[in-house]
Amino acid sequence: MAILDIFVNFIQVSMPRSNVIILTDPASQFSMEKSSTTVLPIQGDYSRGNLMLQRIMSYITFLEQRLKEHPERLKCINHYIFTDSDIALVGNLGQIFEKYHDFHLALTFRNNKDQPLNSGFIAVRGTSDGILRAKAFLQEVLEVYSTKYMKASRMLGDQLALAWVVKSHLTFATKKFSRPEAFSGDINGKLVLFLPCLIYNWTPPEGAGQFHGMPLDVQVVHFKGSRKRLMLESWNLFNSTSNLSDMLCLILGSGRTKYDF
Ligand SMILES: *[C@@H]1O[C@H](CO)[C@@H](O)[C@H](O)[C@H]1NC(C)=O
Ligand SMILES: *[C@@H]1O[C@H](CO)[C@@H](O)[C@H](O)[C@H]1NC(C)=O
Repeated sequence: MAILDIFVNFIQVSMPRSNVIILTDPASQFSMEKSSTTVLPIQGDYSRGNLMLQRIMSYITFLEQRLKEHPERLKCINHYIFTDSDIALVGNLGQIFEKYHDFHLALTFRNNKDQPLNSGFIAVRGTSDGILRAKAFLQEVLEVYSTKYMKASRMLGDQLALAWVVKSHLTFATKKFSRPEAFSGDINGKLVLFLPCLIYNWTPPEGAGQFHGMPLDVQVVHFKGSRKRLMLESWNLFNSTSNLSDMLCLILGSGRTKYDF
């Protein structure tokens, strides 16, 4: 709950006009007393072994619900970004929808042979076209996950399925993943934008004393695995100093144990 609380705080600082919608298991029964924040229970199987599969299903259900909304409401476009809750938003992500104006959905990539795509960040253009195609894309990933990767590590099946879908349609992607520059590709009529993790899904270096630097224009910091405490420390420093650069220095200077996926 502390992580979730801080997750929302960072969004309210970095993108004050956005709404936070927390997708959750109806059985979890918690509430969040924060402005512009709602909890949206979605029926499903949230058992440990099914969690990553359920996450994709929840995203699909969420997008279906948006499509069913009254057409009048869709005239006012809201873009959507699905993220893990262990991230700190330090930039305004609304800019990607303007900077790159023709994608339906966006994913983040890194130079990792087996898992080039991280599932912790999926942006969806809020037009009915964008929502429809993002939903169809996720359904294809879900299909691949349930037919090919159910036996894969419980935590990684979704990322393996994502990579499989992308690589099977875009043969040039593997080469592009080795350089941290945005690119896009057409996957069965869905225009997918690939954004470098380096800027949009950056994970602090692992292992004490490691120093790989940090891009100055980092937008999203992802506190994977054992880095959660660092997320709390970062917020505390930011809240007491209002100095983002100091906070990023704290993150960069803090070596963590090896635990990355
Ligand atoms: C930030 O710190 C102040 C104390 O300096 C505290 O009152 C406030 O609740 C904190 N804000 C958040 C969002 O944690
Ligand atoms: C943040 O702190 C650094 C010193 O650590 C200082 O140079 C910088 O001007 C500060 N930035 C703001 C916006 O206050």
